[in-house]
Amino acid sequence: MKRSVILDVDTGVDDAIAILLALNLPQLEVKAITMVSGNVHVDEVTESTKTVLGLTDYHGIRLGKGSSVSLRRKRFHAPEVHGKDGLGNIRKRYDTYKARIRTERAVPLILETIKRTKIPITIIATGPLTNIARAILKDKRTMRCVKEIISMGGSFEYRGNTGPLAEFNYYVDPDAADVVARSGIPLTVVPLNVTETVPLKREDIIRLTGKSNTLTARFIYDVTKFYMDYHKKVESFNGGFMHDPLTVVIAAIPSIVKKKIQRTMLVETGGIYTGGTTLTRDAKGREKHAPVVSIVMEINRQKFWITFRKYLFT
Ligand code: RIB
Ligand code: CA
Repeated sequence: MKRSVILDVDTGVDDAIAILLALNLPQLEVKAITMVSGNVHVDEVTESTKTVLGLTDYHGIRLGKGSSVSLRRKRFHAPEVHGKDGLGNIRKRYDTYKARIRTERAVPLILETIKRTKIPITIIATGPLTNIARAILKDKRTMRCVKEIISMGGSFEYRGNTGPLAEFNYYVDPDAADVVARSGIPLTVVPLNVTETVPLKREDIIRLTGKSNTLTARFIYDVTKFYMDYHKKVESFNGGFMHDPLTVVIAAIPSIVKKKIQRTMLVETGGIYTGGTTLTRDAKGREKHAPVVSIVMEINRQKFWITFRKYLFT
């Protein structure tokens, strides 16, 4: 039985690859894609998502533009990682492919899709959770029909990538992450702890695109260059973490998960240096009333790469 999904993205480079993967994986049926500010402003996210969709058979998919600002925090983007356009500054090379698709509003589209779809919807969120939180705040009853939210975010007793401890998506909108965690909707968190175990190396891309000269392969080759140059400078490896593609594969093939723990999740919504940090307990054990979420702590990397290659490069 296919999983009916809504993708909520902040199209950046790894989101773009995640979208292509989600549309190719037979286990998923993408009903809608909603867009949120994150890697870049939601205006850029919208244009970039349409460009990515234009490379695929996107018919029947609805598009919803969401929030340009977080629930409370000031706007924060990462053009140094994903380029000003969110696609490694190569979007204009693919302008001719851009999907001609109506752009609706994200929150009403999320709620309508949940109401209209017979089987419960899974939301795969690869950006800040602002749209999902706004949908919960607007109509919690409908949102409680969601089968599962699978969110790329957080970092647990591990390093951050935005400040010393915080992961980007939850740093950008910690209040939204807290609203989603406390909503009672089943939440599976895919943190840096696992997403940083799947770095795609430049040499792999060159080998894979050498063998499979498809439009998708050429796009991935182009779109990852800027992202990988950033990692070469900052992470001292010539490649890029596949945070969002891994999150999509976990939704499509849950058996890829080797270890998942149930823990309370506390999100730091205040703090000057610690905003967005995620904890599983606090010092005094006061987290009794905190929400329990599933946290993916280990995945089958070989299975991920086999799936990645099969659905993007053949
Ligand atoms: O921290 C990594 C996450 O933040 C990824 O989803 C990346 O696309 C950015 O949104
Ligand atoms: Ca993302």
